[in-house]
Amino acid sequence: MVRDDRKYHIGFSRQDLGEDPPSDAILCGDPERTRMIATEFPGVELIRPLSENRGLSSFLVRIPGGRKIVCATSGMGAPSLSIVVNELVSVGISRIVRVGTTGSIQDHVRAGSIVITRAALCRQGAALDIAPPEYPAAADLFLTMALVRAAQELGVDWHLGITASVDTFFEGQERTRTSANPHLLRHLTGITDEYRKLNILNFEMECGTLLKMAGVYGFSAGCVCAVIDDRTTGEDIDLDIKAGAERDAARVALKALERDEPTCMQ
Ligand code: URA
Repeated sequence: MVRDDRKYHIGFSRQDLGEDPPSDAILCGDPERTRMIATEFPGVELIRPLSENRGLSSFLVRIPGGRKIVCATSGMGAPSLSIVVNELVSVGISRIVRVGTTGSIQDHVRAGSIVITRAALCRQGAALDIAPPEYPAAADLFLTMALVRAAQELGVDWHLGITASVDTFFEGQERTRTSANPHLLRHLTGITDEYRKLNILNFEMECGTLLKMAGVYGFSAGCVCAVIDDRTTGEDIDLDIKAGAERDAARVALKALERDEPTCMQ
């Protein structure tokens, strides 16, 4: 009998990573962003596609500086991310940088900049299956500092702070004008202003669960997101600046992964 060790959802196995397998991964919500980083990014060499399963494309690549990494797709939201991250850890990944997109809720964090998360307010159902609600969603200190250093060296417009990770793009982020559902539950009415006053910088949908998983499973994780809308002024995504900000977030992640760093788990 031929054994198939490929993981059911990500569609590849530890053996598929070859000799000298990588321990680092970049994880994007959007498969198109994953593909762009793996196949079109200056200085990134595609070693081979790993899988294309349920829209979760994965690639093995060599990044500037020579290290091998996996570029993988989490899909949208925490339930999908939790499955992908579990399987990535099973195939030997121990350092993950999420490269995502986000909406700013602070005036000084403008669309076109990037946010590096140092900790997340995690209002996500999937995380409750992994850790108690009080469990910290904290980014790895060393990886986060590597992301900050990379942003400084690359001269991109960056911010460092606390991110709100929620389960829904519309209701959970207090969208009513662009939502098919104009009604908000009472506990979500005013949530953006409340979070703004708590010095939270941005809304997104994956990082809190990733950071809690990192603490529980014992891997290191960080998050850098392209700011694609200003929720202080409206609800619309700024498509004109999206591509540039996504590239900046990817450049920062790739540069941060060029070197081995100590991790908070050592
Ligand atoms: N992703 C989100 O979750 N919210 C935004 O506003 C933009 C991207």
